[in-house]
Amino acid sequence: MNVLIFDSNEKLNEAGANIITGLVQTNPRAVLGLATGGTPVGVYEQIVKDYKRGLVSFRGVTSFNLDEYVGLPVDHPESYRSYMNHHLFRHIDIPAEQTHIPNGNAEDPEAECRRYDELIAEAGQIDLQLLGLGHNGHIGFNEPAHALIRGTHVVDLAEETRRANARFFNSIDEVPKQAMTMGVGTILKAKTILLIVRGADKAEIVHRALTGPITTDCPASLLQTHPHLVVLLDREAGRLMA
Ligand code: F6R
Repeated sequence: MNVLIFDSNEKLNEAGANIITGLVQTNPRAVLGLATGGTPVGVYEQIVKDYKRGLVSFRGVTSFNLDEYVGLPVDHPESYRSYMNHHLFRHIDIPAEQTHIPNGNAEDPEAECRRYDELIAEAGQIDLQLLGLGHNGHIGFNEPAHALIRGTHVVDLAEETRRANARFFNSIDEVPKQAMTMGVGTILKAKTILLIVRGADKAEIVHRALTGPITTDCPASLLQTHPHLVVLLDREAGRLMA
C-alpha cells in the first residue's frame, strides 16, 4: 500500500490525474473503473485540462462506473450518467459507446447486473479502479454487511449514505433508496486501485479502513489485501495516518 498525503487540493488533484493520464499515455486501450461523488470532481477537472493541453487521448479507453442509482431517470441531473457526462465524458474524446454505467432503470435489474459483469469480463481486467470512501467504509455502494457480494448487484443504501448524498438533492426524500453497484470481487480484481479521500470527517474511517481489522463491517478494509493500492489523502483525511 502506498499512502500519499497532500497539503493542497490542487496537488492532490494533479497527483490523481497524473496517475490516470499516465496510465492512458502508456496504455491507450486502458480499461478504467470510475467513481462519482464529491471526491473525484477536482481530479476529473485536472484530467480535462491535461486533455485540452493535448497531453492525452481517451479514444481507445473503455470505462466502467462503479454504480448508479436505481429508479432515477438517466437524464436527472443527479444520475451518475449525468454526473459523468458533466464532469468528464463530454469534455474528452472517449467514444460514448465505450463508457459504461449500470442501467438503474432496467426492467430486469438482475439481468442488468449480469450484463454489466459480462461486459467487464469481456473488456478484460480493469487496469485502474478509482474509488472514494463512504463515512461508513463503503466502496462503490458496497455497504457494511455480514457478507459482501462479489459481482454487480442491487443494494439498499444505508441511511447514512442517503443523508450524505442528500447534499446533491433538494431533500433526503429525493435520494433514491437503492443503487446498483459493482461488487467487491470486481473491485478487488482491478490491477491497480486508486483510493482518494478528502476531509476531516473521513479521517477516522480512513484510519480504520487502512489499519484496522479486515472485516465486512468496513468494506474498504478489504483493500488492505490488494497488491497495488495507491491512497491519496488530503491533510485532513490523513490526520490519523501520519
Ligand atoms: C461513488 C461511489 C461512492 C463514493 C462515496 C464517497 O461512485 O461509489 O462510494 O465514492 O460515497 O462520496 P463523496 O466523494 O461524495 O464523499
